Amino acid sequence: MSRSAHPAGPRHADVLPEGHYAAPPADLNALDAKVWAQTVTRDADGVLTVAGLRVTDLAEQYGTPAYILDEADFRSRARAWRTAFGTDADVFYAGKAFLSRAVVRWLHEEGLNLDVCSGGELATALSAGMPADRIAFHGNNKSTEEIRRAVEAGVGRIVLDSFQEIVRVAHIAQSLGKRQRVQIRITVGVEAHTHEFIATAHEDQKFGIPLAGGQAAEAVRRVLQLDGLELIGIHSHIGSQIFDMSGFEVAAHRVVGLLKDIRDEHGVELPEIDLGGGLGIAYTSDDDPREPHEIAKALSEIVTRECEAARLATPRISVEPGRAIVGPTAFTLYEVGTVKPLDGLRTYVSVDGGMSDNIRTALYDAEYSVALASRTSDAEPMLSRVVGKHCESGDIVVRDAFLPADLAPGDLIAVPATGAYCRSMASNYNHVLRPPVVAVKDGEARVIVRRETEEDLLRLDVG
Ligand code: LLP
Repeated sequence: MSRSAHPAGPRHADVLPEGHYAAPPADLNALDAKVWAQTVTRDADGVLTVAGLRVTDLAEQYGTPAYILDEADFRSRARAWRTAFGTDADVFYAGKAFLSRAVVRWLHEEGLNLDVCSGGELATALSAGMPADRIAFHGNNKSTEEIRRAVEAGVGRIVLDSFQEIVRVAHIAQSLGKRQRVQIRITVGVEAHTHEFIATAHEDQKFGIPLAGGQAAEAVRRVLQLDGLELIGIHSHIGSQIFDMSGFEVAAHRVVGLLKDIRDEHGVELPEIDLGGGLGIAYTSDDDPREPHEIAKALSEIVTRECEAARLATPRISVEPGRAIVGPTAFTLYEVGTVKPLDGLRTYVSVDGGMSDNIRTALYDAEYSVALASRTSDAEPMLSRVVGKHCESGDIVVRDAFLPADLAPGDLIAVPATGAYCRSMASNYNHVLRPPVVAVKDGEARVIVRRETEEDLLRLDVG
């Protein structure tokens, strides 16, 4: 296609996006290491490779769309978190970002713990051999049956989220003749996302027990009175895709304030504090995430300083990164089906998946990058929108992107940083089948979650 048919220049001025895609990148074939899994590169033919495997071969063998997950990258990020926090802290991988039995085994081998938030995640963890005492069980409305299973299995901690749950867990533990280790999740009035945080009235949401008005202190009183519960600490999770540590600073200050009040009122120093997850990753070249060792250092300094000021012994810290471990390790491989130029606007590139394998763009206005993966191209940049095959105009995978103007049906394109919350939030909208997760390592590929089939769909439909 010629530049005059799809100009990226002046005729597009009124539709050019802000930020990363405000102008075409200097080289459309270049891969920004920040957004791609560690072993991704291009081979001599220009084909994208991962762990030494060409995406064209992966597409042929496993079909598209497919999530391609770099196992070595996953393990090295898990290890980096583990090493950064050392032996005085615990890293719980947040399974909601992406969980499968292979992932559970990798985490176990790399010495991480696991945060689960449903009976399904708990079952996955236990079936892959994660020791129960390394599992934390979360959720704002765990069912009685889920709590029973968790207590019976001997999970390391249940994170209590409401006054009703305090009584429920205590009752179940007692009926099973157990004393369950618990934390109380509190809301500290801080909400953080991406580059900013707000410290105002963010008790107005469903999670946790507000610190404000003394509710958290009252929850502590009740837990300490119940024989079935052993209170090991306080939990706080402040948001998602956070780059700025100041939200954690305020949260730690407030959590430590509660620990001090507990010491003064009950004469008890709680041994643990969990600061949750939420650390950001690079979805585009504009994002600059911090390294795990910087995060570990910052958090440990904040907590130590706050505890010294409160004359408390520094508690054991735990964190729950999900996205920061798995997010960058995978990309979604799609085949282009149609290329539809809208004169003076942009070109709509339809792929064989969409909002059923990545709901994040439609749901959160999330930004993604994209690259032509099956070859390189010297064609002009073409302002594009990568869309799916669903019957909905909001079915957008990458809102603003430059792709080469000679893009054609049959080309493969790859969207990086889709490891977190894409497969785990995938749906069957329009009865589209959920893609497989293919793990690649050292020149070998294996399916760790297989592609859904029409039989799978019809099996649930019992007429
Ligand atoms: N711990 C707790 C208690 C959480 O609620 C969460 C995420 C995490 C840890 C892990 O957060 P991460 O490190 O992965 O940001 N679906 C949304 C994200 C929802 C996160 C919910 N809680 C998305 O796609 O961005």
